[in-house]
Amino acid sequence: MVERLVLRRKEFTLLQAYIYQHIGISLGDHKIYLVQARLAKRVKQLGLSSFGAYYDYLVADKKRGELEYLSSLISTNVTSFFREAKQWEFLKRELPSIIERSGGKLRIWSAACSSGEEPYSIAMFLMEHLPNYTQYDIKILATDVSSKVLKIAMNGLYSQKAIFSLNEVYLRKYFSTEIVEGEAFYRIRDAVKQRILFREFNLVTGDYSLFDAKALNIIFCRNVMIYFDKSTQSALVDRFYTILPKNGYLFIGSSEALTDMKKDFRSKSASIYQKA
Ligand SMILES: C[S@@+](CC[C@H](N)C(=O)[O-])C[C@H]1O[C@@H](n2cnc3c(N)ncnc32)[C@H](O)[C@@H]1O
Repeated sequence: MVERLVLRRKEFTLLQAYIYQHIGISLGDHKIYLVQARLAKRVKQLGLSSFGAYYDYLVADKKRGELEYLSSLISTNVTSFFREAKQWEFLKRELPSIIERSGGKLRIWSAACSSGEEPYSIAMFLMEHLPNYTQYDIKILATDVSSKVLKIAMNGLYSQKAIFSLNEVYLRKYFSTEIVEGEAFYRIRDAVKQRILFREFNLVTGDYSLFDAKALNIIFCRNVMIYFDKSTQSALVDRFYTILPKNGYLFIGSSEALTDMKKDFRSKSASIYQKA
């Protein structure tokens, strides 16, 4: 019989602090069973006999490869194409003035891109709504802390379930169909992929000096801040504020808010802020 690994309170406290410090995710004390369930398989796979031994393994791993793996196991990657419908309506209305202000050079950051649905939605949206899309200098940076979801994003192959929110027109124009083991899958076309650069980036511990000063037009940071505590959220919003130019936009998730940490961000529409 395979022995069931039990996460002891002391071990949980160590992992909780490690996860907070290195990923930014703030896990309440009641999340002990969730952490046990999500990590047990990995601990066994590594041939370790306890969660305490796993913690030691994490700390000793100076290359931080295990941290990446841990991020994939702990974070929630739920996403979908064209999530937050009202934001796309806003973008459609504002696109002409955004593109005019940008002088035709558009830089957009999808800051917790998960398996790619968000950056691909941005690219498809621009292709659909910008006449002469190819004439513009457009780059979309898509980052996530989890290498696992980034691999899926870069592969760009989606199941029937993943494309449920896409209409037929988008499917036909921007995807090709592939049959894998008798099941239909949808592969994003290279023309959509072309403008996207996928990279690993940790929003909490990452080096923001890598960003070109004031070069970004829009930051999408949706449905990730909810996992951070107030002080981490606030520090993140400060960083976004610093790297955005005047009039730059910040899009957040509809269940998130910038209350008490707005700086000089003006609320424009559903979870959309603009730097004053
Ligand atoms: C719920 S998904 C949101 C995906 C997409 N933005 C959306 O709204 O559909 C949250 C993503 O945040 C990522 N994430 C969690 N902590 C992070 C961190 N510290 N830095 C960067 N990404 C992080 C997770 O790996 C996950 O892919």
